[in-house]
Amino acid sequence: MNVDVLSYAGNLESLTHAKGHPNYAFSQTNICNAAQIATHLQQFQPDIIIHLAAESHVDRSIDGPAEFIQTNIVGTYTLLEQCRHYWGSLDPQHKQDFRFHHVSTDEVYGDLGNTSTRFTESTSYNPSSPYSASKASADHLVRAWHRSYGLPVVISNCSNNYGPYQFPEKLIPHMILSALNGKILPVYGKGDQVRDWLYVEDHARALATVATQGKIGETYNIGGNNERRNLDVVQAICSILEELRPDKPVGLGLYSDLITLVEDRPGHDQRYAIDASKITQELGWQAQENIETGLRKTVLWYLENTSWWERILNGAYRLNRQGKQA
Ligand code: TYD
Repeated sequence: MNVDVLSYAGNLESLTHAKGHPNYAFSQTNICNAAQIATHLQQFQPDIIIHLAAESHVDRSIDGPAEFIQTNIVGTYTLLEQCRHYWGSLDPQHKQDFRFHHVSTDEVYGDLGNTSTRFTESTSYNPSSPYSASKASADHLVRAWHRSYGLPVVISNCSNNYGPYQFPEKLIPHMILSALNGKILPVYGKGDQVRDWLYVEDHARALATVATQGKIGETYNIGGNNERRNLDVVQAICSILEELRPDKPVGLGLYSDLITLVEDRPGHDQRYAIDASKITQELGWQAQENIETGLRKTVLWYLENTSWWERILNGAYRLNRQGKQA
């Protein structure tokens, strides 16, 4: 069962392949709505909750933090409380099997600066933005519900995701679509910030592994082992587009001519990097894509799925999506 409030980045058009499947259900529900969550839990009787519902864009959190506090902190609290009541009502076998998997971010650990260290599961929390502070708060609540009430939880903290269906506010889809439309490619500051890029299907495989095999009470870091500077990522996108879409918007020489250094993000973290050795050693997961193979797949996907993103850019995806139940 997929529970989603369908805020601005939610898109039922990303789920057409699941719609109508006999094992799939959807409800447009806000995780802050305790009564609705309680009803879903009682009716659906889940064995596992994978909690991915969050406001996730750092720039938006700086412009307007309120929704991040509400969804990421109050929403997580609401889910935890409702799951605690539901879990308490289960018979011993189901109680034993139940687990709550909280999906979080490496940004809770803060900025690595220009060091060569990487985040491990025991790195101290030191979040920088309203977004990462709200996710750090949620992680603390999840651990407290485990320690104080015995709720069986697992937590995973991932690095920057990219791939098909990503909302075009994040770096990689934003750059692909701006280049295709002949718009500037705005790189913050000098473009020398480093992110550790994780292909979304690798992340999905890791989530399935942690949710089903992770040890209760444990945290697992999930990373692609693919650190790149932002400017290098944007230049790589331009090179792939030169090859796959040489037919450019009128008057444009090279896609890379669109790269423009713009004012930096306030409080911009310099570097994130994940040490994923725990999940590899204990659960046998490792990323299958590197940034070169993953970026190529991603650019191809956006080239082949123009109607999906055109309907986002022109707002059509938001029509006819209120009160959806399938
Ligand atoms: P983003 O995709 O917003 O993820 P996060 O902030 O969670 O890391 O940004 C990735 C990096 O790219 C980050 O260092 C900010 C930078 N960036 C730009 O330089 N220009 C942009 O237009 C965007 C959206 C991000």
